[in-house]
This record gives sequence, structure tokens and C-alpha cells, in this order.
Amino acid sequence: MAQLDRFRVIGGTQLRGEVSVSGAKNSVLKLMAASLLAVGKTTIKNVPDIADVGIMADLLTRLGCTVNHTGDLLTIDVPQEPLHRADYDLVRKMRASINVLGPLVARVGAADVALPGGDAIGSRGLDFHIKGLEALGAKAHIEHGYVIAEAPHGLTGAEVSLDFPSVGATENIMTAAVLAKGRTIIDNAAREPDLVDLGAFLISMGAKIEGLGSPTIVIEGVSELKPTEHTTLPDRIITGTWAFAAAMTRGDITIHGARADHLEVPLEKLASAGAIITSTSDGVRVRMDARPQAIDVATLPYPGFPTDLLPMVIALNAIAEGNALVTENVFEARFMFVNELARLGAQVSVDGHHASIHGIEELSGAPVEATDIRAGAGLVLAALVSDGETTIDGAFHVDRGYPNFAEQLVSLGAKVTRE
Ligand code: EPZ
Repeated sequence: MAQLDRFRVIGGTQLRGEVSVSGAKNSVLKLMAASLLAVGKTTIKNVPDIADVGIMADLLTRLGCTVNHTGDLLTIDVPQEPLHRADYDLVRKMRASINVLGPLVARVGAADVALPGGDAIGSRGLDFHIKGLEALGAKAHIEHGYVIAEAPHGLTGAEVSLDFPSVGATENIMTAAVLAKGRTIIDNAAREPDLVDLGAFLISMGAKIEGLGSPTIVIEGVSELKPTEHTTLPDRIITGTWAFAAAMTRGDITIHGARADHLEVPLEKLASAGAIITSTSDGVRVRMDARPQAIDVATLPYPGFPTDLLPMVIALNAIAEGNALVTENVFEARFMFVNELARLGAQVSVDGHHASIHGIEELSGAPVEATDIRAGAGLVLAALVSDGETTIDGAFHVDRGYPNFAEQLVSLGAKVTRE
């Protein structure tokens, strides 16, 4: 039972040592879905050992692919005619399942994808995805809990302007447009490094894409793509989690394989909290010698402060010196986890999309529950700076995004068990 799946943490240790960061969840899942665009065997390297990769592998298998995952290597053999129905039992487990929509419509002219579940962090509509595919000439609607999209005569390039730079919508439109006739322009596109990685993957399959990492992506459709081999970029949210862990516990962590340039804003914020941040030959080192100073943060699409590090920054402010204002601009329900943090004694009050936090010297261990991946990781960090024992139920949420989290924490000196 999920409730019995928990972390038990005894607080009070400073985390010191070295960790290696794995491939990025929010890149690899999209690469896996995009492999549907080419018949034959695609190979993805630096694949993290997380539950979500298994869910995407099951989904692709259900669509007729043969998936093999050994170590950090994953191969996906895509048949000539993949199936086009992604059922609710799998899709409900993970939001990224929706990323099969664009590739299926582009490749087989049809997709029935159940409305995804995923984390309890907000309403997470699909209107931008659907409008984007419609602009490319697909017919799409929602019926009986499924997105039904059809383009029996193929897609045609178009100009699509997004109301918000949605990561998932940009990805679905881009992975559909690569096989459309003519040119597609995506305005107000997401700029996240994971999306740039997906673009690089598509280019290596033969796609023609310009403007990746900028708000305007231009795609010239091609008639066919070929399978490829690609190495996933390092996970910036895991890197950020270790950086916050070092700062909160007044520790010293060297994160190998990290891309500090993907985390400029969070690392600047940690520096203003008092952390000493240095580049190393293959990553970044984060050290903290004193109690952190409170830091004001507003989450924004990349290159802004990532919403996925919101629980970590609230947890840091909970034990910082001073008062902080943290504003969430991406997901309306992300503050749900604040109620759990309050069980550890954190002084946080939420008003709309603002959280005011008054830092106290130390939190106080208690049983809490993770409601999503990042809330779970944030609660574990809070437990590390709590007096006594904290249990965090719902550890499976954390497994979805952090490979061997408990083992890595233990290797840094934390007192954590997984039950
Ligand atoms: C991705 O979600 C990530 N997930 C999230 O990480 C991340 O928090 C988020 O991007 C923002 O960086 C994956 O990559 C699998 P969005 P996504 O579309 O693509 C609204 C994690 O913990 N919206 O950029 O779903 C939406 O409701 C996860 O790893 C619409 O209104 O995010 C939200 O308010 C959690 N209509 C905002 O846009 C739409 O059609 C941004 O969502 C699409 C989105």
C-alpha cells in the first residue's frame, strides 16, 4: 500500500560528499515518446532508473514498440504501424504520457490518448495542445475522458501562438510539426533545456528545426525521420535539489555531471542566501557555513526560477534568518504541500499564489505525506533540518523522479531509511 511506502529521516546531519546527477526525467520521457516518429530502433543513453521511465516503456510497448532497458541504456524498436490508443490505466499514472499525442498524429494520422493524471499540483489543461494540433490541420476533441485527434491526410505547417509558454504543448506541437507539410512557427514557445534536448534529438532524426531555446521555434516539415542515438542531458531539478540540500543542512556537496548553466537563477538565489557556489571540472559544488538568509523567489518558465524547486525554496526559507515572500506563477495548487510543512512547525501563510514564510531556527520532526514528486523531495529536505524523526508517506512519488534518493542521501551522511 502506498501509505506504507515511506522515508524515515532523523534530522540534524550536515550533508557532505559527492553525488552524480542522472539524466533528466523531463527530457528522457519526451525522447521516448518522440521515438515513435521513426520506424526502427532508437537508442537513448543516460536514462535514469526512475519509475516514470518504466511507465513510458509500458505505454510504448502497448503501442506495439519493443522496449529494452538495461543499465542507463534504453532501446525502442518502433514498428511500421504503431497502435494509436493510449489507455487510461497507464496514462493516469503520469502526465508525460500526453507526449505521445503529437508523434502519433504525425506518424499514423490518429491518436486516442486518455486525459493524463500525474501530480496534484494544479488543473493542467490540454487546450494549448489541442489548439496547436488543430492549427496544423488535425481534428481534435475530448470525449469520454480521451483526447481524440485525427489527421488522416497528414498535417500542414501553420503559425501557432501560445498564450503561455507551456512545455508540454510546445513539445506536442513540435513533434507533430516535424512531419507536417511546410513551415510551422511556434510563438511564445517554452525554452526549457529539456525541450531543447528534445529538439536536438529530433534534429538528429532528420528534422529541420531552428530557434530552440528562444521564444520562436521554426520547423520545416520533412516527409520521413530515421531512428537515432542520443544522450539525455543531466537533470537540472535533481541538481537543484542537491544544491538546496547542501545549503539547508549547512553542508558541502559536489554534484558531478551537473549543468550549472541550466540553473543560473536558483544558484544565484542560493548565493544570496549565503551559499558558496563553485564550478568544478564536471559540475558544481555547493557549500554553506552559516544559517541561510531568507530569499524572495517568484517561479517563472525557464530561464526563471523553476516551479519544480518551489518546495525546496519554501523549505529553505522555513529555517532561514528573516522573512520571505515566495510567489508561484505556473501551477495554482503547488502550495498544497505547505500544510505538510506546517506539521513540521514551519511558519508559512498562503494568500492566492503568494506564500509568506517566517524562518525559525529548527523544524520539529513529525509524520507528513508527499503529494507529488517535488513536494516529497522538499519534505525530505525539511526533515533533514528537523529535530528528531520525520516520516514521509508516499515515497513512491519521489521514486518517480529521483533515482536511489535514499541511498544517495545516506552516502552524503543523512540518516534516512526507506520502508
Ligand atoms: C512540465 O509540465 C513538467 N512535466 C513539470 O514537471 C514542470 O513543472 C512544468 O513543465 C513546468 O516547468 C513534464 O515535463 C513531464 P506546462 P507541463 O504545460 O508540460 C497551463 C515534475 O515534477 N496549461 O508548461 O504539464 C498549466 O495548467 C513535473 O517533474 C494550460 O492551461 O507544464 C500550467 O498552469 C511537475 N493549458 C502551465 O500552463 C495547456 O494546454 C504550465 O504547464 C497546457 C498547460
